[in-house]
Amino acid sequence: MEQIEVQTEFAKDALHGLSAKPKYLSSKYFYDDRGSQIFQDIMRMPEYYLTDCELEIFQTQKRSIFEEFVKSSDGFELVELGAGDGLKTKILLTHFLNQQVDFRYAPIDISRVAIENLVNDLNKQIPDLKVKGRIGDYFELMKEIEINGYSRKIILFLGSNIGNYSPEESISFLDNLKAVMQNQDMVFIGFDLKKESHIILNAYNDPHGHTAAFNLNLLQRINTELDANFDLNNFSHKELYNSDSGTAKSYLMSKIAQEVNIQSLDKTIHFEDGEKVFMERSQKYDLEMINKLAEKSGFEIVRNFFDQRQYFVNSLWKIK
Ligand code: AVJ
Repeated sequence: MEQIEVQTEFAKDALHGLSAKPKYLSSKYFYDDRGSQIFQDIMRMPEYYLTDCELEIFQTQKRSIFEEFVKSSDGFELVELGAGDGLKTKILLTHFLNQQVDFRYAPIDISRVAIENLVNDLNKQIPDLKVKGRIGDYFELMKEIEINGYSRKIILFLGSNIGNYSPEESISFLDNLKAVMQNQDMVFIGFDLKKESHIILNAYNDPHGHTAAFNLNLLQRINTELDANFDLNNFSHKELYNSDSGTAKSYLMSKIAQEVNIQSLDKTIHFEDGEKVFMERSQKYDLEMINKLAEKSGFEIVRNFFDQRQYFVNSLWKIK
């Protein structure tokens, strides 16, 4: 009889990436509960300016943002993709709630702990807010977004989360999004802007070691979930930034020549001394890139909201 192999998406992707040349792993697997926790640490450190910039935009421009969101009068569903702890979004939610407009907040996150904490938190801090939390992959849940009581939805994709995608992936992501949107819906996207290299490298090559821990946690996850024996001490984190393309890339580098065994995949992976595993892309943009991305994916920019230093932009788009 033939043996039926049941492999998770995670197992398949890990096997694929670690068998490739050059090796890679996907940053979409960073966010198990531990990874989501480490990401909170990253967001709280001063070097990670992205959070402060977006917070500043929301605090100083929440009125204008609200005006754009409600342009066509009636209520809306505010869907957030990859909500995390919702720290920044709370600024908007509190302001919106004071404006006598019917809306519901529908955060989506891959981490159960993140969503549970967020929903509990909101119930306590903003008891009048209508919240519908969802746990899972937002590509899956996007199909469900279509079916709800509100006539319009505004989709938040904040924090430069879009920067994890390659140019091709960004277009296909936006295509998928467009497919679940109606004409009057909008998407509000956070983009980290190109700036001096040292500022970007400080944010991703931080002195506290949070970014290193964030990357190494994925090896730990492979150890736990796929029964592997990565020794985390034998890898170090490396960040590279190309100021022309605006692409920051995270790597884990093998400190020695070594073999790692992944039992559940029945696979041994060899690493050369100094061999790198590509872990994450964090794309930085200029306005031309953003305009082109909107155009190529069939969207039209309604309005851009910048912080004082012009480090970051929240861009509101509608379907063209
Ligand atoms: C959540 C994808 C926006 O790329 O800046 C932070 C993740 N990685 N530090 C980013 C991250 C390392 C973050 N995003």
